[in-house]
Amino acid sequence: MKVAIPRERRTGETRVAATPESIKKLLALGLSVHVESGAGIAAGVTDAAYEKAGATVEPDAAATYANADVVLKVQRPLAKGEGDVDEVSLLKSGAVLIGALAPYDAADALKLYAKQGVLAFSLELIPRITRAQSMDILSSQANLAGYMSVIQGAECYGSPLPMMMTAAGTVPPAKVFVMGAGVAGLQAIATARRLGGIVSATDVRPASKEEVQSLGANFIAVEDDEFKQAQTAGGYAKEMSAEYRAKQAALIAEHITKQDIVVCTALIPGRPAPTLVTEDMVKTMKQGSVIVDLAAERGGNCPLSKAGETIVAHGVTIIGPANMPAELPAGSSGLYSRNLVAFLTPMVNKEAGALAINWDDEIIAKTVLTRDGAIVHPQFAPAEKAKPAAEKSADSPAEGAPPAVDAPDQTGAPAS
Ligand code: NAI
Repeated sequence: MKVAIPRERRTGETRVAATPESIKKLLALGLSVHVESGAGIAAGVTDAAYEKAGATVEPDAAATYANADVVLKVQRPLAKGEGDVDEVSLLKSGAVLIGALAPYDAADALKLYAKQGVLAFSLELIPRITRAQSMDILSSQANLAGYMSVIQGAECYGSPLPMMMTAAGTVPPAKVFVMGAGVAGLQAIATARRLGGIVSATDVRPASKEEVQSLGANFIAVEDDEFKQAQTAGGYAKEMSAEYRAKQAALIAEHITKQDIVVCTALIPGRPAPTLVTEDMVKTMKQGSVIVDLAAERGGNCPLSKAGETIVAHGVTIIGPANMPAELPAGSSGLYSRNLVAFLTPMVNKEAGALAINWDDEIIAKTVLTRDGAIVHPQFAPAEKAKPAAEKSADSPAEGAPPAVDAPDQTGAPAS
């Protein structure tokens, strides 16, 4: 079976879906691995390093995709008109496509995968269950993004983070406020603490309180009845009521005036990011303070932030990273490629040299977008189409119909 690792072509993407380490694991599964020339350059991996690991280096996209049974990607492949190559048209019918396919943002792409007969799996949809932790790309990439947000914030801030006692006097420690204490937020807290900042954090999920405090940060939140119900069964935050948001805004407005670096990470799956830092709040912040808005890509927790830009507004530097994991390409590719290997391994029957997908597996059922020429994921398929596709019996015994699944943000075990 041929596995293809094409070069990432989307603007600003520096990551790659395989490293020499992951290639060795793919080879051990009995797969033949083909990497497009230059795919790893931005992440510090040369063609020679891939070849040394046992991969075949292909000259271009067409040769890489040709006849591939499995295609591993970071971002979704380019479609017609999106760039120099129409990658979707290079996928063979029946090929498995695995990556961060951004299904919430790319409804048209899903139709194309279905038309192309591709089995597309989107790893952002992996349920937050213990068994899937090693495959969880949101976690691996958010960890690095959280770390990097503090590093970038510190770089733009005009003073050191730790308290410094010198002969010329004392420099006070920086105050860092982390909004949203999920994976990225907790890593931001840990990083800011390591750098010597005084850290506080907020979230709407009650479970986050203990996690924040265990990292040595102060927890700031409106802890009313709605707060107690704010976590879905899948471990994500719910969208809060207007009444809660008003109470939260009053609390934050007071707290934010004293902060030096604010790291925003609050997200709600499939929705625009909640607005937490209004322009009026920015106006009250200290001159020279910094906001790093990791939510910028999804509209931002601060309405002033611009994805992919750093601006100064009312004396506050506002960094809006468009793709923070891409700022650490070697580290993020290393973790991402391990996630892919962990996801692919149970799909491969090494002895038979064939795919053996267990459609009854919760992880498979919740990540598969397209199958048998149709969009089958209940969250993205038109209701009437999802059913026939799911009922269609498999053409091979290994490919039974996927069971009905719930929305990924409403199901699965809570965080462990
Ligand atoms: P996320 O990226 O969807 O959101 C980031 C954070 O923003 C979350 O903590 C969320 O509660 C918070 N947030 C949303 N709206 C907010 C608001 N209005 N104000 C303040 N904060 C707000 O979340 P992420 O990082 O993907 O984590 C989601 C959950 O999944 C967490 O419970 C996490 O612990 C859990 N998890 C579980 C794993 C497992 O395998 N067991 C692995 C990774 C995460």
